[in-house]
This record gives sequence, C-alpha cells and structure tokens, in this order.
Amino acid sequence: MPISGTGNLPRILSGYRCSKSAVVWSLVGFLLMLQLYSIATHRSAVRGDIELHASRHPLVRELEQVEEENIQVPPPRKKRSPHAAKRRHKRSSTLIDEFLDENSQLRHVFFPDVKTAIDPVKEAANESHYYHPGKIWLDTEGNPIQAHGGGMLYDERSATYFWYGEYKDGPTYRAHKKGAARVDIIGVGCYSSKDLWTWKNQGIVLAAEQTNETHDLHKSNVLERPKVVYNERTGKYVMWMHIDDANYTKAAVGIAISDYPTGPFEYHRSQRPHGFDSRDMTIFKDDDGVAYLIYSSQNNSELHIGPLTDDYLDVQPDMQRILVGQRREAPALFKYQGTYYMITSGCSGWAPNEALAHAAESIMGPWETMGNPCIGGNKMFRLATFFAQSTFVIPLPGIPGSYIFMADRWNPAELRDSRYVWLPLIVGGLPDRPFEFNFGFPSWSRVSIYWHRKWKLPSSWWLPK
Ligand SMILES: *[C@@H]1O[C@H](CO)[C@@H](O)[C@H](O)[C@H]1NC(C)=O
Ligand SMILES: *[C@@H]1O[C@H](CO)[C@@H](O)[C@H](O)[C@H]1NC(C)=O
Ligand SMILES: *[C@@H]1O[C@H](CO)[C@@H](O)[C@H](O)[C@H]1NC(C)=O
Ligand SMILES: *[C@@H]1O[C@H](CO)[C@@H](O)[C@H](O)[C@H]1NC(C)=O
Repeated sequence: MPISGTGNLPRILSGYRCSKSAVVWSLVGFLLMLQLYSIATHRSAVRGDIELHASRHPLVRELEQVEEENIQVPPPRKKRSPHAAKRRHKRSSTLIDEFLDENSQLRHVFFPDVKTAIDPVKEAANESHYYHPGKIWLDTEGNPIQAHGGGMLYDERSATYFWYGEYKDGPTYRAHKKGAARVDIIGVGCYSSKDLWTWKNQGIVLAAEQTNETHDLHKSNVLERPKVVYNERTGKYVMWMHIDDANYTKAAVGIAISDYPTGPFEYHRSQRPHGFDSRDMTIFKDDDGVAYLIYSSQNNSELHIGPLTDDYLDVQPDMQRILVGQRREAPALFKYQGTYYMITSGCSGWAPNEALAHAAESIMGPWETMGNPCIGGNKMFRLATFFAQSTFVIPLPGIPGSYIFMADRWNPAELRDSRYVWLPLIVGGLPDRPFEFNFGFPSWSRVSIYWHRKWKLPSSWWLPK
C-alpha cells in the first residue's frame, strides 16, 4: 500500500482506500477460490462419472440407449371431441391435442390395441422380460393389470415384489357437468412378481364400501395413489393413500394396515396431515427405517414433507414446506449415495405435462429443482413425460444408480384402459441447471429417464440368483 504523506485527511482517505482495496482483493481471492473449487468438484464429478460409466459398462449402456419418435401429426380436423377441446393445455401442441382426442387417428400410437398386449405367460422366449411402455400388460391369468397410480414394495422375507395400485376396472363417467372423469372406487389391487415382469393377481387387498355413504371408502368417493411400507417394529404392512370426495374437497390421506403384503388391509381412518389439505402423495421409507409422507398441499401450490411416527400410523408434528409456489404433484422419491431425489409432475388433471427432477442432501430440504429428466422420444414426448405421469421409482439393487421409473399414461376417456410407462432411470452426469441453495456446486448428479419403445433389464438382473 502506498503510504501517503501528510495531514490527517489524506491518511484517513488512504486508510479508507486501503481497507476498500483490501475488501476488493479479498473478494477477488474468494471468488478465485470458489472458481477453483467449482472446477475441482466438476472435475471430480466428471471423473467419478466416467469411472462409474466404465464400471457399469455394458449393463447400463443398454438402458441408456435413446430412441427417437417421428410421429406424423395428421392435418387438423374441424371437429374435435369436446373432451379434447376443453382440455387444451397451456403448452398445447398438436400432439397433446391428438393424445387427448378419443377419435384421433394417432390413438393406436398412445394406446396400442389388445392385439399387441404383452402376455408374459405366452410370450416367446426371445421376447420375454421386454417392457413395452404404453402397451396393454396382462397378468398371469391373461387380464390387463389394474394397478394405476401405483407403488412397489419389495418384501425381503418372501423375496417378492408387490405392486399396489388403483383397481379401476369400472365405467368412466362424470359425477356432474364440471366434475373430472372418474371411476367409482373398487379398491386397491395387488400383484406379485419375482422378476418385475410376470405379475400374479393377488386380488383386491382393500375394497370399496358399497352401502355406508359416510365411509371414506364409499364407492362414490376417491381413492388414489396407494403406497405400502413394511414396519419392522410392528411387523405390519401399512398402506397410505389419497382419500377424497368426488369434488376433491376433502383432500385427506387414509391409512390401512395388514399382517400380510397380500392383505386384507384393515382401513383405519383418514386425516388432514398437519392440519393441511393433502392430494397427490407418496410414502418414502429411508435406510434408517424412518418413513416420510410427501403430499401436495395449499391447493397443490407446494409440497409438504414430514416423518411418520414409529408405527407408521400417523404423522409427527415436524413438517417442511418444499417447492413452494411450484405447483407440483405425483411425487416419486428415491435415494442414491446419500442424496435424495424426487420426480414430480405439474398439475393439469389427467393431461400429461413436463416432469421435473429435484434433489436434496437432507430429505427435509432444501430441495433443488434440476430440470426435466426425460431423454429421447421427441420434444413433445419429453415435454409430456412420454405422455405419462410419475407414480414411483423402483430401486434395482445390483445395478448402482439404476432405477425403474413407473408412470401412468392416463386415458381420461376410459380410465380403466390407462397404461403403464416403465422406463430406465439413471443417476449420473452433471445436472443442467444452476442451483439456488449451494452457490453452484453440484453435490448431486443428473437424473435421466430414457425413452424406449421396447427394453429390458440386463439378464443378469432377472435370472434366478
Ligand atoms: C422370436 O421368435 C419367434 C419364433 O421363433 C420369431 O418369429 C420372432 O421373429 C422372434 N423375435 C425376435 C425379436 O427375434
Ligand atoms: C359408516 O361409516 C362411518 C365412518 O366410518 C362409521 O362411523 C359408521 O359406524 C358406519 N355405519 C355403519 C352402519 O356401519
Ligand atoms: C360436487 O359439486 C357439485 C357441483 O358443485 C355438487 O352438486 C355436488 O353435490 C358435490 N358433491 C360432493 C360429493 O361434494
Ligand atoms: C383452496 O381453494 C379453496 C376453494 O377454491 C379456497 O376456499 C381455499 O381458500 C384455498 N386454500 C388455499 C390455502 O389457497
């Protein structure tokens, strides 16, 4: 620092200048350090990724193949079904219009007919274990699987997967002019499998109430997104689900309990968790045995997350509001290498919209939004989550960083004929958005969901171990 000559004023000024430049220099230094750190973490993230890729090769490479879709949209017709006209989405495109139009010439693209159904019992050996997103999927008795808005439980005791979902094999109708398309509650369907491909119908494990109109499960109400977790302390299987009336004003969660994964589940009660409205929801069970409820609240404007009590039959008072103002629903959580990830959808009724991936170091937040995880198909496929909505992410132990993304392709004209879109989800690579809370240091990886018309898990995974 130059020492300035005489008098008090210059000295004071110089002192001022000195401290100012010190501040500037330390700021520059700090920024430099930040930059270096950022580069270093990027490098190590990239290197870690390359190592991961090398180590997972070629198991994961198959899953990461990208298929493009080139669908010719037919010239617009003057008359659309009133359904399609009414449900015009904000980011409306001809392809979404076609999807929502029951009479579209492209109907077979989104809802292939029964002739193309996947029948694991009859499928030729060279075709076995292939998933065909959107095609009708039959159970071992030859009936279409009814497990919409579902979730997966891996039961370690029986080394079996149990798929729970809404059993919707009834007529679709509207309760009144302004009501959403609906099917009366029939119950929660359950299917079991050892290979995640061949599913045996275990029946309806929680059934609708036929006569008592004040009962939550009365057929005129709404039961959506059932999820089951096993409680090691009590030895019980606990089911949480969205319970509502036909107008979606009750906005509650219901709880049921069973001694066996295949039920029957005994319905306990419903509640508004933490005193808030609750619509789309899911349950996530962490490694330490603590289970969490995540639900859309404040009229779907935000998500709430909080731990359940030790017996999983209630919420604890502890709750965090996350993704506030982002209007997300259909949450599906998973964990990889200590980081929590979540896929959500926007709120547009039965119409598909853009998925987003989120990540957090602590499950209670803060949660960062990382962007759209969808890869392949075409632009409209990616902006519409492959014409489906998230419901669950299944971990695949044995292929680190690999998961199955479970989604529903809703068919509002005939809800029982809604389809399943299962696709590989891989955690790896750098995320594509800067972060709000961690000053640009990615402490987590990109989440990618790869579009495939047809795909299967590596044979090493589903062969008997
Ligand atoms: C599977 O085998 C059947 C019968 O041998 C054959 O007709 C079919 O083309 C094969 N499919 C593939 C994808 O190889
Ligand atoms: C009908 O359901 C309500 C709510 O679960 C219950 O309190 C009531 O006892 C039931 N009524 C009959 C007749 O079972
Ligand atoms: C739903 O709303 C309609 C129209 O506002 C009303 O007529 C009906 O009674 C409501 N149903 C329930 C179950 O609240
Ligand atoms: C949610 O919507 C209802 C009906 O429009 C309204 O009465 C209520 O105040 C809203 N709640 C919040 C938290 O915005």
